[in-house]
Amino acid sequence: MEAWLIILVSLSACFFIKLLFSLLFSSKKNESKGHLFPPGPPPLPIIGHLHLLPKSTIELRSLLSNLSQKYGPVLTLLVGSKPLVFITSYPIAHKALVKNSAIFANRPPVVPVSYVLSNKHKDIGGSPYGLTWRVLRRNLVSAALHPAGLKSYSFARKRSMETMINSFKQQSSKQEGKAGAVRLFEHLHQAAFSLFILMTYGDIGEDAIREVEHIQYTFLVSYAKFSVFANWPRLGKLVYRKRWQKYTEFLRRQYDILMPHIRARQKLKQEKKVGKEVVDLVTYTDTLLDLEISEGAGKLEEADVLSLSSEFINAGADTTATMFQWVMAYLVKYPRVQAKLFAEISQVVKQGAEEVKEEDLQRIPYLKAVILECLRIHPPNTSLVPHTNTEDMEISGYNIPKNTTVLIGTAIIGRDPTVWENPMEFRPERMMTSTSNDNGTGGEEVGDVTSFKMLPFGAGRRMCPGYKYGSLILEYFVANLVWNFEWKAVDDVDLSEKEEFLVVMKNPVRAQVIQRRVK
Ligand code: HEM
Ligand SMILES: *[C@@H]1O[C@H](CO)[C@@H](O)[C@H](O)[C@H]1NC(C)=O
Ligand SMILES: *[C@@H]1O[C@H](CO)[C@@H](O)[C@H](O)[C@H]1NC(C)=O
Ligand SMILES: *[C@@H]1O[C@H](CO)[C@@H](O)[C@H](O)[C@H]1NC(C)=O
Ligand SMILES: *[C@@H]1O[C@H](CO)[C@@H](O)[C@H](O)[C@H]1NC(C)=O
Ligand SMILES: *[C@@H]1O[C@H](CO)[C@@H](O)[C@H](O)[C@H]1NC(C)=O
Repeated sequence: MEAWLIILVSLSACFFIKLLFSLLFSSKKNESKGHLFPPGPPPLPIIGHLHLLPKSTIELRSLLSNLSQKYGPVLTLLVGSKPLVFITSYPIAHKALVKNSAIFANRPPVVPVSYVLSNKHKDIGGSPYGLTWRVLRRNLVSAALHPAGLKSYSFARKRSMETMINSFKQQSSKQEGKAGAVRLFEHLHQAAFSLFILMTYGDIGEDAIREVEHIQYTFLVSYAKFSVFANWPRLGKLVYRKRWQKYTEFLRRQYDILMPHIRARQKLKQEKKVGKEVVDLVTYTDTLLDLEISEGAGKLEEADVLSLSSEFINAGADTTATMFQWVMAYLVKYPRVQAKLFAEISQVVKQGAEEVKEEDLQRIPYLKAVILECLRIHPPNTSLVPHTNTEDMEISGYNIPKNTTVLIGTAIIGRDPTVWENPMEFRPERMMTSTSNDNGTGGEEVGDVTSFKMLPFGAGRRMCPGYKYGSLILEYFVANLVWNFEWKAVDDVDLSEKEEFLVVMKNPVRAQVIQRRVK
């Protein structure tokens, strides 16, 4: 069914012939490269490269790395008549994102993630480059993710972490073999979501947190199905009626679940105004309720606050939960790495201490290296959120006309054999630089993610605003899991990937959990 739908849409092609020609020629001669589109395989009439495009982004990644070997690191595929440009090399991607930052920071008119998630209401990730985006992003960075703001949530991080540790304690067993195996995913997922829900709506209680987590997760697993309505809104509604019903049903339930929490924050704020003593932390929702896009424009609509708060929960929790699972999978698979990490933590944390504190993290470089190495091999998505350019621009000698959708292949970039030796080998040590000197002082250091030739968080103006915070959470949670327990494989850890909303483990990791200090 999807095939004829696609063909029908493609029939409306108007630039097709022009592009077809430029593509056919650009793949053959390169004297006049500067005036041409990036190369690609020969397209078919009308459908372009639709016959080549796989459904999952994991297969797309494999296709692109094959095509890159033939056509180079900048290439074009036509979706009907619409060109999609892909970049698969770090220097080219970095240059486009950073040097051309101002004209390359736009988003295509419809970013499916954003459309499906927010039902056309405001969000940061999908907003075009402009005033609204700037104000919303500044609010996120200067309020919720500001160092001072982050400090006030440290209780939330500690609580989510302790809840997780306690749930593992209950499950930990000295029983050998598969019988004592625990599936990690649910616990890690809950910890990440609890934290971001607390930051968004305040302390709404364990049951309400689970309810919010559940509705947000429903979206994440249904995303692939729902995204058809972003690409073909009118036709999609006609063709996929049942799916449309499910989508509207999801939106209604999400509204019913999230809106009361937003109204509760609103009420709390008004009570404060009339002078009642309300001691509470400032949540992300509170900052949104106060926000005006421009002076005198009035406050955001309730539906916008809902969409933005939902974006915050998903953008923050789903990425960290996904990364969290990959990190733990590698630690279970490679006991050598886990043992080395534990040894480093032991040098920093006092014997018998209950917790690895956030202040301690700075002194555990190997922990940072482990997380960076996971981000390199398994960035949560195979590509960045699509970018588009507001002016014509040149990328690596090719001309990219304005409004072209450009996808940056983060996963290919992290596994580029010309940059990373044995890219599929998991070796956190490669992230470390030695600072020791002749007289024996110094040690090992690990730089910020931006000092490496990889782009798990993007770069430039659209770079993930949560990259420092995401890393902090991962470090804090992982350090405590390794400090409290030994994680032993019960079977061969399978690192195959599966596409959900992000790229997750096909077979979620299981492990035997052994408490290190039993009182
Ligand atoms: C390990 C964790 C994370 C990873 C790997 C990650 C990755 C990314 C990537 C690749 C992008 C797109 C960049 C681009 O298009 O150039 C992005 C955007 C974004 N991320 Fe993250 N992220 C993580 C955690 C977070 C956290 C904790 C938050 C905050 C609450 C967050 C909020 C956002 C937002 C709001 C955007 C949209 C930015 C814009 O379009 O201006 N992310 N993230
Ligand atoms: C095109 O450029 C590549 C290197 O950039 C070169 O190896 C190749 O010979 C060129 N092809 C033609 C037809 O000029
Ligand atoms: C890419 O090439 C490899 C090896 O030649 C092949 O196994 C794989 O199927 C190709 N992937 C795609 C999507 O064409
Ligand atoms: C993931 O990557 C695909 C392309 O590979 C892109 O279409 C999609 O928007 C990305 N999703 C997210 C959440 O970044
Ligand atoms: C580019 O996109 C913008 C906004 O979608 C539109 O107003 C403009 O006409 C487009 N320009 C071209 C050359 O297609
Ligand atoms: C060790 O050498 C470094 C420079 O290489 C110097 O800055 C430092 O003071 C020396 N430390 C001692 C204890 O000699």
